Amino acid sequence: MAKKNKKAVAITETVLRDAHQSLIATRMTTEQMLPIIDKMDKVGYHAVECWGGATFDASLRFLKEDPWERLRKLKAGFKNTKLQMLFRGQNILGYRPYADDVVEYFVQKSIANGIDIIRIFDCLNDLRNLQTAVTATNKEKGHAQVALSYTLGDAYTLKYWTDMAKRIEEMGANSICIKDMAGLLTPYKAEELVKSLKAATKLPIELHTHYTSGVASMTYLKAVEAGCDIIDTAMSPFALGTSQPATEVMAEAFRGTEMDPGFDQMLLKEIADYFRPMREEALKSGLMNPKVLGVDIQTLLYQVPGGMLSNMVSQLKEQHAEDKYMEVLEEIPRVRKDLGEPPLVTPSSQIVGTQAVFNVLMGERYKVATKETKDVLLGKYGQTVKPFNPEVIDKVLGEEKKNAITCRYADLLEPELDKIEAEMKQWKQQDEDILSYALFPQVATEFFKYREAQQTKVDSTIADTKNGAYPV
Ligand code: CO
Repeated sequence: MAKKNKKAVAITETVLRDAHQSLIATRMTTEQMLPIIDKMDKVGYHAVECWGGATFDASLRFLKEDPWERLRKLKAGFKNTKLQMLFRGQNILGYRPYADDVVEYFVQKSIANGIDIIRIFDCLNDLRNLQTAVTATNKEKGHAQVALSYTLGDAYTLKYWTDMAKRIEEMGANSICIKDMAGLLTPYKAEELVKSLKAATKLPIELHTHYTSGVASMTYLKAVEAGCDIIDTAMSPFALGTSQPATEVMAEAFRGTEMDPGFDQMLLKEIADYFRPMREEALKSGLMNPKVLGVDIQTLLYQVPGGMLSNMVSQLKEQHAEDKYMEVLEEIPRVRKDLGEPPLVTPSSQIVGTQAVFNVLMGERYKVATKETKDVLLGKYGQTVKPFNPEVIDKVLGEEKKNAITCRYADLLEPELDKIEAEMKQWKQQDEDILSYALFPQVATEFFKYREAQQTKVDSTIADTKNGAYPV
């Protein structure tokens, strides 16, 4: 284990979650992870982020894997390292708000299957959407980390962030993360922000950023000098570009200082050697696009996260309207303003991006509004930092605007678990299956069918063997 100086920066490794979600569309399989976790467990990481975010959906949908089974296998391998997951507040790992009983049950099962730290965020930074998950994590004796979705705009002053930090401390969180999903935080802004947060609260501060705009490792340096306790990095074959700064590089940058995490570079090299062929294979197959590996300065200019840009390009391609790229890029900040200037992170990034594409392609703003845009304006996603544009409310909602709510949307939802369980009973092999189904009913059903078919195959093989069908 690494020896720890009191001021040593702690490091959370993201290669098993955010790094492959950012660079290879979340396609790393459990089988690809397991052979290396023994070595990873010896590094001395503060935590390994390895679950949640898009990994749950991608496991079921594309990899035909049970995400719960992955979690149990990772837990069995990581004997000394804490496991961390990313959790979208009331939206859990899905794209709509769920009733409290589903949120509570998901937290309970995540911790029971091996998660130690739950990083909880809301795309509007509406803390009411985080309270149920935080309370449930406390109750299950997990570590509740609340993430502030970092963004820029008139409303996002230092006072805004420090007020939020104080409220997060009061709501029972164990630490705070600055979640800079677009790579907007520049080095000296980070220094200022970290100092202010450290002065405002006693909670440990973690910084999570992406390399998209090219400033991330400098941002970490200034943040750690300013007292940031934990940073998120990825092993070099899955670092940089739209992913995190490289673990080896950040560890080396602090070597010999009081911030030195004390990592063994030879051990890190062995781990990097394991992941490198995976990167080369992904580049060859096209799964990793060299485009996401470079510096994208447009993210600083338009404040649009990298993942959102690639989504937008594919939406425009489908409509044979790639020439409208610049127009849409300029429309995004306008839509964001109309919708109360939210941070752009799942699912608000998809909502703003898709509406901007519609506004440009239809040749008239809000001629067509998506269901999600309507729901934002109806208050279902929560409260935004600024008011909505009243003209847009009139045009999009019309008479319906009298149905807008100001309470927490989940307060209007009846408990859902019993109904969900009744609906999927025939597929249930473990309690956790109820939650897979709750989040992704169609995708989970497809997976359950696949799983049964596999099991029938195995059973008949055993039967055949017993009958002497195979030579011994
Ligand atoms: Co991230």
